Amino acid sequence: MKLFKVAIDGPAGSGKSTIAKEIAKIFNLFYLDSGALYRAFGYYLKKMGFDLNNENDIINALKTFDIKIIKNDYYLFNEKLDFQIRTPEIGKAASIVAKNPNVREKVNQILRNIAKVHSVVIDGRDIGTVVLPDADVKIFLTASIEERAKRRYNELIKKNKKVNFEDVLIEIEKRDKADSTRKIAPLKPAEDAIIVDTTGKNIKEVITEIKNIILKKINLE
Ligand code: CDP
Ligand code: CDP
Repeated sequence: MKLFKVAIDGPAGSGKSTIAKEIAKIFNLFYLDSGALYRAFGYYLKKMGFDLNNENDIINALKTFDIKIIKNDYYLFNEKLDFQIRTPEIGKAASIVAKNPNVREKVNQILRNIAKVHSVVIDGRDIGTVVLPDADVKIFLTASIEERAKRRYNELIKKNKKVNFEDVLIEIEKRDKADSTRKIAPLKPAEDAIIVDTTGKNIKEVITEIKNIILKKINLE
């Protein structure tokens, strides 16, 4: 049976992981969160006391980095990764290590090995452009920076975190800039991606829109 592949890219807070998880359920696809792998590697470096910007430290960490994906859970050795990789600090660390070509190669290998044997939906920054250039459906989610920052802010407030909106906005702005201007695999829509602007749209509306795009593609095949 032919495998089906969906790529969902976009900036922080555009709704990638929320939408990708639902799309995985609807179409029975394996959901892969590529950002979680960059976050896990950044977390590992910090935990080992390594320097995020030092090439030797990165090479050494890559030799021992061992991540297992079981269903929707990610394990660093035997540690289940959850809230500890979802902090703004680890988001920043992920963005720093993601500039390194050796790290990107490692993450891409992990993702492609799974996509070789499973139908998948993968979310990230370069899935449609680099990881799965042959994906059946490529979506690029966007939303205004204010709306994305508001979503992140609400998320943190719900978790009882003390944050102020301006700081969240600045952090997202910085990450957008770092991800879009880096030399290797910058954040940009693939030429054949469908751009979905989610500003002012709720989760249900976006899921329906993406679901219809995928159904249209399936019916054409
Ligand atoms: O994965 P990404 O950073 O692109 O975004 P996310 O973590 O899926 O979504 C960030 C937050 O925005 C979550 O709390 C979602 O529930 C929320 N969201 C929303 O309010 N409206 C949407 N259309 C999409 C996501
Ligand atoms: O959830 P959010 O959109 O904030 O970030 P994420 O998807 O968890 O990714 C964290 C960081 O990893 C991003 O800011 C990127 O620098 C990097 N990343 C990447 O370079 N390529 C990917 N395919 C996914 C994430």
